[in-house]
Amino acid sequence: MNERPPGTWLGMIWAQDAAGGIGMGGDLPWHLPEDLAFFREQTRGHAVVMGRKQWESLPDRVRPLPGRRNIVLTRDTGYEAPGAEIVPTLAEALERVAGERAWIIGGGQVYAQAIDLADELVVTMIDDVYQVDVRAPEIGEGWTLVAREPGTGWTTAANGMRYAVERYAVERYAAERHERTGA
Ligand SMILES: NC(=O)c1ccc[n+]([C@@H]2O[C@H](COP(=O)([O-])OP(=O)(O)OC[C@H]3O[C@@H](n4cnc5c(N)ncnc54)[C@H](OP(=O)(O)O)[C@@H]3O)[C@@H](O)[C@H]2O)c1
Repeated sequence: MNERPPGTWLGMIWAQDAAGGIGMGGDLPWHLPEDLAFFREQTRGHAVVMGRKQWESLPDRVRPLPGRRNIVLTRDTGYEAPGAEIVPTLAEALERVAGERAWIIGGGQVYAQAIDLADELVVTMIDDVYQVDVRAPEIGEGWTLVAREPGTGWTTAANGMRYAVERYAVERYAAERHERTGA
């Protein structure tokens, strides 16, 4: 059972299409520069935890992702990822970021394992459906939509794609607040 070390804040960030697709053939199914810039801005200065396949999908010029502590999950004990820390389990990845603010950045396998441990989800919703072979985790009942940008409707990218950024907070905060304050 994985647990978040005390004081650790864990976010997950991804972009998905209208049917929950996130990846195709080891890459993103779309090209949305505005979202790549948003991802950079959100994660800059923090640790980023990713699966080996997501690491391999990064273009050479941004591998390791600059200005961030890169942590790569693999069960392959001989794997080399220059510029990144290699860890064999999610639990060890979480120990490495104890007390820090860290982001889970995919891909599908890692999102699915980490969603029950996360504090916040930052999800770019893309108003289209693509051919995919990897899907986002389900945002289940334990999550509350706390913000959407823009509030209603969509932002239109320079290439015409329409998207919106949604933020979800985990409901255990509500329970913790209730225990603390009785509110
Ligand atoms: N749309 C988005 O925002 C977004 C974001 C990120 C990624 N993606 C896409 O997602 C796809 C990649 O996702 P994926 O699900 O195929 O692969 P992934 O999650 O990136 O990587 C899977 C690999 O990570 C390692 N791993 C996973 N869980 C582990 C654990 N608990 N302990 C140790 N190692 C573990 C294993 O590596 P070994 O096989 O080496 O043991 C496994 O094969 C790509 O298409 C990528 O473009 C999309």
